[in-house]
Amino acid sequence: MLCYSYSLSLYSPLSASTLTWGLIASASAPHFFSFSFTPNRKVVCMDAAGLDSDGREFKTAEDMWREQTGDSTKKTQWYREGVSYWEGVKATVDGVLGGFANVNEPDISCSEDFLTILLSELFPAGTRCQPLVALDCGSGIGRVTKNLLIRYFNEVDLLEPVSHFLETARETLASGYQTNLDMHKAVNFYCVPLQDFTPDTGKYDVIWIQWCIGHLTDEDFVSFFKRAKVGLKPGGIFVLKENIARSGFVLDNEDRSVTRSDLYFKDLFSRCGLHVYKSKDQKGFPAELFAVKMYALTTEPPKRASRAKSKTSTNRPRTIM
Ligand SMILES: C[S@@+](CC[C@H](N)C(=O)[O-])C[C@H]1O[C@@H](n2cnc3c(N)ncnc32)[C@H](O)[C@@H]1O
Repeated sequence: MLCYSYSLSLYSPLSASTLTWGLIASASAPHFFSFSFTPNRKVVCMDAAGLDSDGREFKTAEDMWREQTGDSTKKTQWYREGVSYWEGVKATVDGVLGGFANVNEPDISCSEDFLTILLSELFPAGTRCQPLVALDCGSGIGRVTKNLLIRYFNEVDLLEPVSHFLETARETLASGYQTNLDMHKAVNFYCVPLQDFTPDTGKYDVIWIQWCIGHLTDEDFVSFFKRAKVGLKPGGIFVLKENIARSGFVLDNEDRSVTRSDLYFKDLFSRCGLHVYKSKDQKGFPAELFAVKMYALTTEPPKRASRAKSKTSTNRPRTIM
């Protein structure tokens, strides 16, 4: 059987949490692990092999999830340890970015490019009569809301399970944001994890989920998106921005999160009944970090532009069967 080998290097000088952020693909890294899989088979997420941050291999994601969260005690512990990891982190940009405060600027700038395209295509000015409303999920200290969302949305709600992050967000955003036309403000601050959250029906134009979905199991990922769909206004979208593993997944043993591959995400999106309207790769990050991707997800399949009928086809005689 034809096999090829896929190698992955893990870089240990970074703390385990930065590992989720800082998976390094450099051959000079001190630890080197490799695994192989059959290229001819369609790899779906449950089949794909993965690693943990200590270099241990899992044959399938299903094996990993069973080991980590297979019964209710383990699952409770998984989520408790995820949140307690972040409870021990300073409420600063450097803290929520795992020591990589320098990625804040390129992150926001690339997100802004993506968001402005989405807004102009899906919510063109002049066609809407209601205020634009967004939800920032796993908002941390409100970095994304403060630097991006509050400038484009009349109202932003924040959801974050770590209370000292959310308090910092509340203080930072207290004064709102004045545009030429009106005042934009952060309205609700929900101190809940994603797996326990159900939004109000038809409330949001955009639900923004950045660098937090890795804390959810596959099962909770799917049920979160299914519940959250109800929270979108008609025509509303999700924007998911996440680290991307080269293949399969990488489990971070310290902060209890999983970095999934693009294929893994797409498999989950289809299980959620979501469609990729557009996606974009993050540019300008240090080469040693994970690749980062943004996905705009819709609940309805994107409409394909109908091709204008050509003269030839219009004039061609029709055949009667
Ligand atoms: C890397 S920080 C990103 C924060 C923010 N999205 C940003 O980009 O600045 C990860 C965030 O996910 C939050 N988090 C951890 N577990 C979560 C869960 N189960 N549901 C929602 N957020 C979670 C953490 O508390 C933390 O604020």
